[in-house]
Amino acid sequence: MSFHAAVFIAVSLDGFIARPDGAIDWLTERGERAGDTGYDEFMAAIDTVVLGRKTFEKVLTFGFWPYAGKQVEVLSTTLPTDVDERVIVHRTVDGLVETLNDRGAKRIYADGGRIVQTFLRAGLLNELTITTVPVLIGQGIPLFGALDADIALTHNATRTLNEGFVQSDYTIRR
Ligand SMILES: NC(=O)c1ccc[n+]([C@@H]2O[C@H](COP(=O)([O-])OP(=O)(O)OC[C@H]3O[C@@H](n4cnc5c(N)ncnc54)[C@H](OP(=O)(O)O)[C@@H]3O)[C@@H](O)[C@H]2O)c1
Repeated sequence: MSFHAAVFIAVSLDGFIARPDGAIDWLTERGERAGDTGYDEFMAAIDTVVLGRKTFEKVLTFGFWPYAGKQVEVLSTTLPTDVDERVIVHRTVDGLVETLNDRGAKRIYADGGRIVQTFLRAGLLNELTITTVPVLIGQGIPLFGALDADIALTHNATRTLNEGFVQSDYTIRR
């Protein structure tokens, strides 16, 4: 594997990335008050974005395409492969990885809860930047899930942003 894969994601204090129906109002209504999260700098270094199907569908509701200039790969067993000319749809992680290697992808942004879990279980992830939002939403889609074995992380830094947002960077130990 010649690429470097990173996650840059926001989570409620109780560990959710979205409400059960996928809503992220709890994030968008507060997000701007956090100040500079470093997202633009992070994105500037990314050449390839990997999205789960549900995150891809959420992005389509934004009304603008936030990945101009990036290669975008979507993992899905259900989407038609010609769903959108801006993305390539992959049925399996193995197929995705083959394409990433063939295309010479260097820095990958993996986004979506299931995608994060898929990448972790497959040993494909190098870095995590988690921004914790000071809100409890009670139930929702979890960022993390079951693992076959523990995954040890190195904590690199933690920053306090505005309005009580807390951002931490971790490297996955190999
Ligand atoms: N808080 C944040 O910063 C943040 C960031 C990103 C997303 N979100 C939110 O999170 C929600 C989506 O997260 P999610 O965890 O439900 O879904 P997701 O990871 O975006 O997408 C899950 C889907 O991806 C496909 N997939 C995942 N792993 C796969 C594999 N190994 N092989 C083949 N296909 C695979 C499957 O699609 P098929 O069902 O088509 O097979 C699966 O249903 C959205 O509401 C989004 O807005 C929040």
